[in-house]
Amino acid sequence: MVRKAALLALATVLLLGGQSAQAVSDTRPARDVVGGLVAPQGKFPWAVRLSMGCGGTLVEPRVVLTAGHCVGGTGKNSSIVVTAGVTDLKSRRAQTAQSEQVIRAEGFVNEVRGDDWAVVRLDKPLHLPTLPIGREPIGEGRYVVMGWGQTREDSIQQEDRLHYATVRTVPDERCATSYQKAGVALVPDEQFCAGSPGVDTCQGDSGGPMIGHGRHGEWVQVGIVSWGLGCARDGYPGVYTQISTFRPAIKAAVRKLR
Ligand code: ARG
Repeated sequence: MVRKAALLALATVLLLGGQSAQAVSDTRPARDVVGGLVAPQGKFPWAVRLSMGCGGTLVEPRVVLTAGHCVGGTGKNSSIVVTAGVTDLKSRRAQTAQSEQVIRAEGFVNEVRGDDWAVVRLDKPLHLPTLPIGREPIGEGRYVVMGWGQTREDSIQQEDRLHYATVRTVPDERCATSYQKAGVALVPDEQFCAGSPGVDTCQGDSGGPMIGHGRHGEWVQVGIVSWGLGCARDGYPGVYTQISTFRPAIKAAVRKLR
């Protein structure tokens, strides 16, 4: 995920057709989670790392939102260690918690088929900011993605430091046509695609957030890193879980675990 260069100016809130989580505007796309930048401590305080090698977000002090394919299924689960409060996982300031219980989307089969979300209850509340989840379907534009996953498709390592990048949404039809060539049918309501040349999420970023700006400039989660064919390949953007589609189900699951 990373080359130095590009500075993100995550400033302007673009109002796109009355959507409530907006694309971010930036001067230049950051090229690097392939193509990203190292996040300074404190920039994304609700971003967490899960021990099976996924990302997640703190949506309640005791509940993490991640991808369905990152967890084994619904039920009691004490196998996941959550590292929070740091962008550098090796930092002494890292807070950890253990999972207690998991709820995975009911219809989940595999990430390609959609329903790719899950929530995890922690054994203790973490005293960190939480990230709100978006109400409206994602609008066209640029959004921020992040993770501790590979910075290249052929990399064999995960990163100690959180990387982030901006990626542009890709129209459903265009993405569907690409993936059709690879023999995969997208699930349009449940998934959307995003990626910019040389910029993408990659293995190990799954479960992490895609974020845009809310009405007051605050970060709002609009997607969950789900899958892709390789990483940052031309014509094959990253595929993300459409948060707004699952908002009622996610909210209900969070309520059960809170
Ligand atoms: N499934 C991957 C994971 O478990 C995420 C892959 C995202 N790939 C992409 N090209 N955007 O970490």
